[in-house]
Amino acid sequence: MKIAVFSTCVYDQEFLTRFNTHHELSFFSEALTSNNVVLAKGFDALCLFVNDKADRQIIKDLKNYGIGLILLRCAGFNNIDVEAAVEAGIKVLRVPAYSPEAVAEHAMAMVLTLNRKTHKAYNRIREGNFSLDKLMGFNLHGCKVALIGTGKIGKAFYKILKGFGCKVVAYDPYPDDPLIAEGLTYGTLEEALFDAEIVSLHCPLSEENHHLINASTLKLFKVGAMLINTSRGALIATPDVVEALKTGQLGYLGLDVYEQESELFFHDLSGDIIQDDLISRLISFPNVLITSHQGFFTREAMEQIASTTFSNADAFLSGMQLINEVKF
Ligand code: NAI
Repeated sequence: MKIAVFSTCVYDQEFLTRFNTHHELSFFSEALTSNNVVLAKGFDALCLFVNDKADRQIIKDLKNYGIGLILLRCAGFNNIDVEAAVEAGIKVLRVPAYSPEAVAEHAMAMVLTLNRKTHKAYNRIREGNFSLDKLMGFNLHGCKVALIGTGKIGKAFYKILKGFGCKVVAYDPYPDDPLIAEGLTYGTLEEALFDAEIVSLHCPLSEENHHLINASTLKLFKVGAMLINTSRGALIATPDVVEALKTGQLGYLGLDVYEQESELFFHDLSGDIIQDDLISRLISFPNVLITSHQGFFTREAMEQIASTTFSNADAFLSGMQLINEVKF
């Protein structure tokens, strides 16, 4: 099958080439948009990532070009109009899980960095500054964590938090019985957020939870709490979070995702003028840590993404059951 692979970096090309079964791959570094959808002409399938856009109009163009398959090399599919794809007869297959531990461990790395300020200590010591001034953290042991979403990643994060001795209160519309048996307490969203010292988001983005964290839900957190988002940027109303940081209502923010990340993340913009004033404001806070959607980025996860992507492609070609199909 001729597959156009969008949004590729060197590491994507390396892993996809290594795990390729027998397909003809063409790599494009740019993300798929309405401006460049014409690049898909002449291919049988597209391979897309988190910031590639396939809205109804793009799906229509893809159908006209004869594309029959979209291979997502990620779990989330909020960037694809799945209803339009189903109507157009284009199958959408995804990689439902690729090391949930990778993202959960990154979430904990963000908590520890923000709390214990190891990034600041590293730079200080290199400059011969051995002072502890402004490096004080707090004990994670005993602190209340609101865990929003207890699917694969939330579950892995819960196990880490348990190891640290945190008091976890979860919210998920579908509570997980084995986790309850392990001692996890569930509550309503408000109960989970109320007085939480750390809030960590592990739910997919949907119409219902768009801007789940906003001016009113932020008020439920304990004053000076920490918010971690490794899920999807639009779960947070970013301007409200900036206000909460300015007043001190929010004490720490760790973002691995950002609502407008498609213009920024995965690119080296070090020589450019950043046009996004919101992210520039966020970067200016001493208590904000931003990473560029790297939660998934471990060797194990990259191997899993590449191998599942090609087993999806092979299942499609051979008419086998499509276990990873995204259905509307
Ligand atoms: P999952 O599908 O296993 O679990 C999601 C859980 O969220 C489910 O239990 C579901 O019932 C729950 N949920 C749905 N709506 C909710 C709401 N409004 N409030 C609370 N819980 C809700 O998904 P998984 O694998 O755990 O991934 C979670 C999210 O993490 C993905 O949707 C994706 O957005 C993000 N992600 C981020 C990555 C990164 O590199 N930063 C990599 C992979 C996923």
